[in-house]
Amino acid sequence: MDRQDFLSSQAGVETLRFMTCGSVDDGKSTLIGRLLHESGQIFEDHMARVAALSVRHGTTGDEPDLALLLDGLEDERAQGITIDVAWRYFGTPRRRFIVADAPGHAQYTRNMATAAAASDLAVLLVDARAGLLEQTRRHAAIAALMGVGRLVLAVNKMDLVGFDEARFGAIATEFAALAHSLGIGLYSAIPLSARFGDNVTRPSGRLAWFHGPTLLGHLETVTIPSLAQGPFRLPVQGVVRLDEATRGYQGTIARGRVAVGETVRLARSGREARVARLIGMEGEAGEAAAGEAVTLAFDRQLDIARGEVIGAGEAVPMAARCEADLVWLSEADLFPGRSYLLRIGTATVPASVMRIRDRLDPETMTHAPADTLTMNDIARVSLQLTAPVPMQRYHDSRDLGGFILIDRQDGATVAAGMVAEMQAATEVTRHATAVDRAARAALMAQQPALVWFTGLSGAGKSTIADLVEQRLHAQGRHVFLLDGDALRTGLNRDLGFGEGDRVENIRRAAEVGRLMCEAGLIVLACFISPYRADRATARERFEDGMFIEVFVDTPVDECSRRDPKGLYRRAYAGEIRNFTGVSAPYEPPEAPELRLETLNRTPEQAADAVVAMLRARGIIPG
Ligand code: ADX
Repeated sequence: MDRQDFLSSQAGVETLRFMTCGSVDDGKSTLIGRLLHESGQIFEDHMARVAALSVRHGTTGDEPDLALLLDGLEDERAQGITIDVAWRYFGTPRRRFIVADAPGHAQYTRNMATAAAASDLAVLLVDARAGLLEQTRRHAAIAALMGVGRLVLAVNKMDLVGFDEARFGAIATEFAALAHSLGIGLYSAIPLSARFGDNVTRPSGRLAWFHGPTLLGHLETVTIPSLAQGPFRLPVQGVVRLDEATRGYQGTIARGRVAVGETVRLARSGREARVARLIGMEGEAGEAAAGEAVTLAFDRQLDIARGEVIGAGEAVPMAARCEADLVWLSEADLFPGRSYLLRIGTATVPASVMRIRDRLDPETMTHAPADTLTMNDIARVSLQLTAPVPMQRYHDSRDLGGFILIDRQDGATVAAGMVAEMQAATEVTRHATAVDRAARAALMAQQPALVWFTGLSGAGKSTIADLVEQRLHAQGRHVFLLDGDALRTGLNRDLGFGEGDRVENIRRAAEVGRLMCEAGLIVLACFISPYRADRATARERFEDGMFIEVFVDTPVDECSRRDPKGLYRRAYAGEIRNFTGVSAPYEPPEAPELRLETLNRTPEQAADAVVAMLRARGIIPG
């Protein structure tokens, strides 16, 4: 029997999705094996990826609710990053079960986060001899963070402690305290022996003092949160044409139910409409509920695009700022200020972490402020989006409160996050002045622009920019040279050369450059700006054509031979840390507006090339 057969054979039976956490030493495989074996109906599916993909391409609501988080992680498949979660299916006459099993190795946090995002309950396994371990606490914390609202502590290997009631009692008490500290009210501890089968699916005389259910009994009876209850929410995935005049809006219902004739509201515009048609997997239908992929059409024309949320009842909030819990998954560290793509629901928007408020230390379960996050770190952060999107607290909606951050350069998922609190935008509205950039530029008879020179220290950025400035100035242009060394003695004197400080250095430089452009100037900015992501973020702050990247391309050998400031010598001697090109990276631009090789050009020729390029682009008159 395959998964599909299994799902249809058990139609009408409730499904519990749970995850298991623990190590082989704790007896995890034995326990899962026994559960599957003794329940009599085993349906294994090692094709986790197929399951995930079939969800994505719209099947019934019977699939694991992989939601947004998985959606994003799944994208990584294409980039060859393995997500090692095995999904197993089994059932009893009372319930069917989908078990997410995340094996514990290198990418453990990632796997756990993936599994947790799709689970209603977590079974934490411990060895009765050892009790709660640091990893048990860590697993419980991640599960709780990811919205898994029910915890079960399976106290295994009771046979090795002589089925001792007191031993179990002590562990159960400690576990209760852990659950409380995580804010989880639905928890229980169950003594068992996976090896001998005591209290896994059958009660055991050797545990006669225990009056609770068997593990399977508990899994069969624990309440399952129902997504079909609560206000209707449909994150719009796509728009299709149903006929000449009618557009259909597609997506998977995240919450609640909807029926033809009902009035719904759009999160973005607040506009209302009545559902005129509802098409489900089986064709035209009268109603549909959470988990089902549907196409809706309305009684009037609406302007709806991917990323919109159609809802009923309480309005879906829009927010551009939030506090969130982040699980950092990337090998590259997180630095506040760097821009990523945030995908929440079906919306995608650029966003950056403004501040890392609290990083969780899993060893001590305490929080402390931090400047960066490294792989597997968990922290509360403040996020700023470039535009408001429909958003809910993760606690209220996994679908509209769970998000991922995507690297803008290579498309990899770098973090999974959960909205903790939405924040009202700071009420800063810029006063629109009557004299604007265009007016100032007209008076100066020029087109403002930011010419951004990037390249290694000693590449010749400032030398070339200096010559360009002289030429433009002589032509009567209003021009200003802004350079790293100058900014670093004033505005940026609090910044060093670590990656995080450079992110901020470039952000401020671009903002200053932007203000100068607003003033009508042509700005020549000279910054090593070694990270592609930060130059891309700087570019984004400008209208098309205003940000002009000039790559001063001088090989590091030549720069260190010239060594105008004697810095390379000191860097090689180990006296300067994080020196670009020596002990810190430089990521050359992939598509600069102008690339200047300096080995075969004099600075004068390079400056001429820049001036010619500015003329060709209409920045200065021909
Ligand atoms: S950036 O990397 O943040 O863009 P920026 O252009 O502002 O750097 O400053 C670079 C200048 O700082 C160099 O020209 C050099 O004079 C000086 N400097 C001092 N320490 C370093 C370092 N570790 N790496 C690079 N430049 C350094």
